[in-house]
Amino acid sequence: AAKCSLTGQWKNDLGSNMTISAISEKGIFLGAYLTSVSATNKTILTSPLIGYQQLNGSSTFGFTVKWSFTSSITVFTGQCFIDETGQPTLQTAWLLRSESGDIKDNWSQTRVGYNIFHKLPSKRS
Ligand code: BTN
Repeated sequence: AAKCSLTGQWKNDLGSNMTISAISEKGIFLGAYLTSVSATNKTILTSPLIGYQQLNGSSTFGFTVKWSFTSSITVFTGQCFIDETGQPTLQTAWLLRSESGDIKDNWSQTRVGYNIFHKLPSKRS
């Protein structure tokens, strides 16, 4: 498959923005996530993420976003592709866990979905 680097700036189909920094030699990466939407009414803040990428030419990855403006957590899994137009694309699935104050409400606290991310052009220096 064509080479596909996670490092850089991405925007998804909801309009959320994500920046992924360099990938370590062990496949660990850090980043920042600015969601365009929230299940809460709180003011949205840029939130940290940490992930793992498979190495040796693989393009599968997973990361966790620890929302800094609320108590929920989202995990994403995905794969990086070069699409038919030559653009780097992330195909992902996610689980959003919201916190409930009562175990009786546990059943309703996990949302699931999919997001597609496209890479933003990197600025020349
Ligand atoms: C929350 O509302 O509890 C925190 C923000 C959750 C945003 C979700 S994560 C999955 C989906 N993809 C996005 O880019 N934003 C939403």
